[in-house]
Amino acid sequence: MFDLNANPGLEGIDPKRIPVHVACVMDGNGRWAKKRGLPRTAGHTAGEEALMDTINGALEIGVKWLTVYAFSTENWKRPPDEVRFLMRFNESLLVRRRNELHEKGVRIRFTGRRDWRVPRRLLRRIDESAEMTRDNRTMTLTIAFNYGGRAEIVDAVASMIADGVQASKVSEKIIRSHMYFSDMPDPDLVIRTSGEYRISNFLLWELAYSELFFSDVLWPDFRRCHLFEAIREYQRRDRRYGGLEV
Ligand code: IPE
Ligand code: IPE
Ligand code: MG
Repeated sequence: MFDLNANPGLEGIDPKRIPVHVACVMDGNGRWAKKRGLPRTAGHTAGEEALMDTINGALEIGVKWLTVYAFSTENWKRPPDEVRFLMRFNESLLVRRRNELHEKGVRIRFTGRRDWRVPRRLLRRIDESAEMTRDNRTMTLTIAFNYGGRAEIVDAVASMIADGVQASKVSEKIIRSHMYFSDMPDPDLVIRTSGEYRISNFLLWELAYSELFFSDVLWPDFRRCHLFEAIREYQRRDRRYGGLEV
């Protein structure tokens, strides 16, 4: 557990009620760059610092699962140059950061569709990073890449049919067990940056009862202090799951 006295930034946070799983829609890179008269890609580059500070903040406060949305199944609609940049950028980010994350006990995993459009080299880096960090348990960092919540549900249904699951046996438990990572707990808190109030196909099944936090900060400006602010707000919410307050 963290020491409040050692870090005044954590004031007001109850160390016993830290969300187990925090998920982030890292949005606003393009607008951040545009405001500065830079190409959109400069916003993605600047997002790396935001990601690392968020990961380190999550580690500091004891978040066990952090999931970040890096590329959606709809992001292929972007201009080919930007898509190509994002493929290379994510690959190089992994190579640049995986040792440091490994040393900190982070297990790196990818969630999403491995289709033909994802460059083979990126897939290789993904597999290497997952393999290298597979036994780490301080935190699981799941990077949602070529991920869509609807695609995940479609894939789960297809795999249930392939497994011969009988209609009478279909249940929430069975569906969950066919999702990309059945051991991943549902997110307690979902943060979306950049002032957009939507989910954009992120973790549709998993966020049924997540607390949602929307921030106006553009992703490249996001830092651990914003994560802590979201957690403070999370701790003020009553999670009733359809029941009544006790
Ligand atoms: C989020 O930033 C990163 C990705 C979707 C890959 P955007 O690129 O969507 O930035 P905005 O929303 O256009 O500002
Ligand atoms: C969501 O952001 C996807 C990621 C952050 C990777 P988008 O920028 O793609 O979402 P929309 O288009 O604003 O809904
Ligand atoms: Mg966006």
